Amino acid sequence: MSTVDLRQALILYATETGTAQEVADRVARECRRIHICSQVLSMDAYSAEDLISEILVIFIVSTTGSGAEPRAMTVLWNKLLRSDLPPDLFEDVHFTVFGLGDTAYEKFCWPAKRLARRLEGLGAHKLCEGAEGDEQHLLGIDGALEPWLKTLSSSLLELMPLPTGLDIVPSDQTPPARISLVNSTNPQVTTIDPLEHDNDYRLATVKCNTRTTAQDWNQDVRHIELDFVDDIQYSPGDVVVIHPITHADEVEKFLTQMGWGNLADELLEIHHVYKDQSLPDHLSHFSTLRTIFSRYLDFNAVPRRSFFGYLRYFTSDGAEKERLDEFLSPEHADELYDYCFRVRRTIQEVLSEFRNVRIPKNYIFDIFPPLRPRQFSIASSVKKHPRSIHLCVAMIKYKTKLKIPRRGVCSTYLAQLQPGQELRIRTLKGLLRLPSDNNIPIICVGPGTGVAPMRAVIEERIQRKAFGNTLYFGCRSSKKDQHYASEWQLYSANHELIYRVACSRDGPEGVKRTYVQDLIIEDAARIWKLLDEDGAHVFISGSSNKMPAAVKAALIHAIITCASRSEEQASQYIFDLEKNRRLIEECWS
Ligand SMILES: Cc1cc2nc3c(=O)[nH]c(=O)nc-3n(C[C@H](O)[C@H](O)[C@H](O)COP(=O)(O)OP(=O)(O)OC[C@H]3O[C@@H](n4cnc5c(N)ncnc54)[C@H](O)[C@@H]3O)c2cc1C
Ligand SMILES: Cc1cc2nc3c(=O)[nH]c(=O)nc-3n(C[C@H](O)[C@H](O)[C@H](O)COP(=O)(O)O)c2cc1C
Repeated sequence: MSTVDLRQALILYATETGTAQEVADRVARECRRIHICSQVLSMDAYSAEDLISEILVIFIVSTTGSGAEPRAMTVLWNKLLRSDLPPDLFEDVHFTVFGLGDTAYEKFCWPAKRLARRLEGLGAHKLCEGAEGDEQHLLGIDGALEPWLKTLSSSLLELMPLPTGLDIVPSDQTPPARISLVNSTNPQVTTIDPLEHDNDYRLATVKCNTRTTAQDWNQDVRHIELDFVDDIQYSPGDVVVIHPITHADEVEKFLTQMGWGNLADELLEIHHVYKDQSLPDHLSHFSTLRTIFSRYLDFNAVPRRSFFGYLRYFTSDGAEKERLDEFLSPEHADELYDYCFRVRRTIQEVLSEFRNVRIPKNYIFDIFPPLRPRQFSIASSVKKHPRSIHLCVAMIKYKTKLKIPRRGVCSTYLAQLQPGQELRIRTLKGLLRLPSDNNIPIICVGPGTGVAPMRAVIEERIQRKAFGNTLYFGCRSSKKDQHYASEWQLYSANHELIYRVACSRDGPEGVKRTYVQDLIIEDAARIWKLLDEDGAHVFISGSSNKMPAAVKAALIHAIITCASRSEEQASQYIFDLEKNRRLIEECWS
């Protein structure tokens, strides 16, 4: 590889839920260790036309629903796909790609794979082999990231050798903090909700927050209605983005544990020193530790490997150092897994065990991950409920392998919202798209809270007088967790919907349980007619575990039995439906 003189790199990331951004920060720190100056940008903040004049671009790309690219990548990706681009367009550009994905999904890291292929097709030079982080790995994304960083570093040094007089910064040297915090004495400053300044966000008032599952049922699922003063626009399939606020008691407990209880409400000025390291979105220049740990940083998250790296810098205790060294050594990855990831220990719990760690306040944004906003499918049609958004939200409540009770951060926040309370939310385009022709039938498969976008879709269709609607809903008990049952029954009585429900636990003990996919198999002939003769569109929504694959297998089965196609032909049929956007999945873990 020939060398280049300008020692700089562009790190372009595309993230949907923030992990790729954290990885980009980590890559930038690695570049800094070898004195390469890097600029870190989200792909949607970068002009694709400038790519041609870059020397080196490191792409960090996650994967979202059905193997699609994150929204932030779409514009750049569409430009790269143009058929009139010459094959030597990027002959002066070096690149590598780190993909983030999850092998539990069918299309593992597709955007990263496709991007690498396309760039090579346009003449760009691979700096080094890319890598793909997998959420299913023992160490999550870090399982592939840490070894890849080593490869990346040595390839970078080959392309951009260290100038004489400079040494690689040893990995045990504490990196500088990305911010500096200064106590502010400015009495003029008031801390207001920074989402107020973001025009994408709208103020919503909680109209109702009611439980849809029976009181004596173990799962708490809420129907939440949010009202707006002005008209709002959204389409069926769109999602809302909600920024959770951690419960005040938990924040207080955490700040006391950290020894910051007395400082919690001091007004601080935040100076962003190292711009190659990101700060949480919407962070104000002035804030307090209480606000920061309520709204921006997540001490309830299961920590990543790099968190333990920082603890190693900030403990003075020999035994703790030894334990942390063990966790950080690649040979002992299983110990870190057993200690932390398997049992889902939180950052707060780890900190309560490593009692000698003293975190300097300037390092909080390096050590604690951002508190991520969560997405929820809209469960209403704006045509039926103007100035209103409905949600169907499952409260996350479970016990870890250590029998510690846990609650989801955002669902807990939503659960305690009372009518009249306000919050700021934004909407985003989802994946589902209704056929523009109202005569085309739709088949909705939405078990559990997967019914949320289906309610939006069905309400919208009925408003449009499109009555060729079928819903396959799945729950455990017809009496306990059949969300919106009375609505489905009414539509059904009015011939606006064919409602099929699988209640998996209602049958007698020992008899095979029925799920949505079983109903699809029962209805094979009808399904095939809808698909083949009527050109039906299929929507699948809900849990991303085995459900979507089982539903597709059931559709394949229907095609094999009713259309006398081979398994290969039936699979190709489903593949084509997906390709033509006649079968769309919106699933989440
Ligand atoms: C496009 C999209 C649409 C969505 N729509 C909806 C919707 O309509 N309704 C809805 O309820 N949710 C929906 N979600 C999911 C939602 O965004 C949140 O992920 C969910 O509410 C959990 O957030 P939380 O903050 O409460 O939980 P978190 O604090 O994020 O905790 C969730 C994590 O806890 C762990 N966990 C959960 N249960 C268990 C268990 N039993 N055992 C072990 N570990 C466990 C898992 O690691 C899980 O990732 C959607 C997600 C996406 C991406
Ligand atoms: C709704 C949703 C859909 C996903 N779909 C896929 C997928 O099709 N293929 C894949 O490899 N990973 C998929 N993933 C996994 C993410 O790519 C992975 O968790 C990644 O670390 C997220 O990175 P981000 O936070 O930067 O977006 C999906 C995750 C979610 C939440």
